[in-house]
Amino acid sequence: MNTWVKDAIVYQIYPRSFKDSNNDGIGDINGVRSKLDYLQQLGINTLWLSPVYDSPCDDNGYDIRNYQAILAEFGTVQDFDLLLEECHQRGMKLVMDLVINHCSDEHEWFEQSKQSKTGPYADYFYWADEPNDLRSVFGGSAWEYCESRQQFYLHTFSKKQPDLNWECSVLVSEIEQMVDWWLDKGVDGFRVDAISFLDKSGIEDAPNGTFATEACVNRPKGHAHLRKLMSKIHTRDVLSVGEINARDTGELLDYVLPSRNEFQMAIVFTPPEIEVFHENLNRYYKEQVKTRIEVQRQGAWNANFLSNHDKPRQVSLYGDDGEFWLQSAKALAVLNLTQHGTPYLYQGEEIGMTNCYFDEISDYDDIDTVAKYQEQLELGLSSDDALALVSKASRDTSRTPMQWDDSTFAGFSEATPWLKVNENKSTINVKAQQQDTESILHFYQQLIELRLSSETLKTGETSLYDTEDAIIAYQRESDSCTYSVIVNLSPARVSAPNLPELQSAELLLGEELNESLAPYSFAIYKS
Ligand code: GLC
Ligand code: CA
Repeated sequence: MNTWVKDAIVYQIYPRSFKDSNNDGIGDINGVRSKLDYLQQLGINTLWLSPVYDSPCDDNGYDIRNYQAILAEFGTVQDFDLLLEECHQRGMKLVMDLVINHCSDEHEWFEQSKQSKTGPYADYFYWADEPNDLRSVFGGSAWEYCESRQQFYLHTFSKKQPDLNWECSVLVSEIEQMVDWWLDKGVDGFRVDAISFLDKSGIEDAPNGTFATEACVNRPKGHAHLRKLMSKIHTRDVLSVGEINARDTGELLDYVLPSRNEFQMAIVFTPPEIEVFHENLNRYYKEQVKTRIEVQRQGAWNANFLSNHDKPRQVSLYGDDGEFWLQSAKALAVLNLTQHGTPYLYQGEEIGMTNCYFDEISDYDDIDTVAKYQEQLELGLSSDDALALVSKASRDTSRTPMQWDDSTFAGFSEATPWLKVNENKSTINVKAQQQDTESILHFYQQLIELRLSSETLKTGETSLYDTEDAIIAYQRESDSCTYSVIVNLSPARVSAPNLPELQSAELLLGEELNESLAPYSFAIYKS
């Protein structure tokens, strides 16, 4: 793998919520351009841009109408080209989101496929005369009837996201050409969306009520299709990261072992409900650390992250967004930036942005939240109870506008934003933290600097200390040095682990290890 990928500190931008340059309430590409200095100062060297392609935005851009056009709300192709150029001038890389399990029902391919069972586009999608009882991720049947073709089409996600048929070789070569077009433009790689579901051969025998995601996940032909595409992509100097669904470490390794020639690394998708309603999140997190250690032992590379646009805010989920907000946000930063692999940050995590909840279902935008709310009403819950339930794991908790300052719309825009701003923008914002050397923002800057300067933190061996649930502690080791990272990931004071080897080590960040560890305290030692 190319060295820049190993050195990458990736920052995910959710364009709709990052910065609005023309005050229409929607974040855009020129908004991103205006914040490149900020990102560079933070130490970011790679951006991952969530979809900016032309789209009706049923699922906020993850439903693409035209892969080679930019959504007007986000700007123009010229704006995009300027963004790419300005990134490169700064020595920054730009990674695109690639959504190729499905497209939009408004894509030309689907418009054509709808018309005829025999035309050139007939097989671009999955059509059936008799649907079975397969479920879609966003609620209801995974099959939708199409009047003009008098058949049903498959949609793993919303009915406006028909699944592309990877058995159709003409379609696959169209996808390959599209990917080449972006690479020729100079983009530096792809985060490949929902890629575990390409092999649809499981749908026929799926028992009633199975989710399409379950019926199609990680099947052999899916891997074969992927390998073919990735072998082309990897002829260029790019970063590749798959968003995959893995039920165990073996399934994850199938995507990331170098010998498989699929992805350089993977972001493992977990439905937000799993984490939000987990009975012991620390234990769950420790399992993730163990998985990453296994991935590393097997000679593969990790993607390390705590947040993205599909998950609640990390400080609200794994930390404490009340009393220990500052301390716990820093503790989580330590975990995100001292493990093996490439760290991924999600916009706003560097200032400790917290979950946002709304009082009315009409304030929610997330298609998943709205569908699940309806489902709960149908199951008999009152509207208040349904809202209380679905808002906890709503993807909108982390999609609210970036908080740049304490003005009415948080410096995101001068106009009412597409999604409400979190009221805590008056205390949690970039401007305030830039002025405070003890802030989360400054801490991220420091940690990123430390990480970039240390080969051991990037590639060193990892071993986990055996500690009680509250504590996450590990060593990163190379021939030249050892880092020991100890984090109390709990709101309680707990006894410190007994680590005599740290007596001669130098404390780089955090608090000296005494008999007990204060809530969310941490220490990074070097020896
Ligand atoms: C991925 C995206 C998510 C989207 C889904 C369907 O999981 O991250 O936001 O809804 O794929 O494209
Ligand atoms: Ca705008």
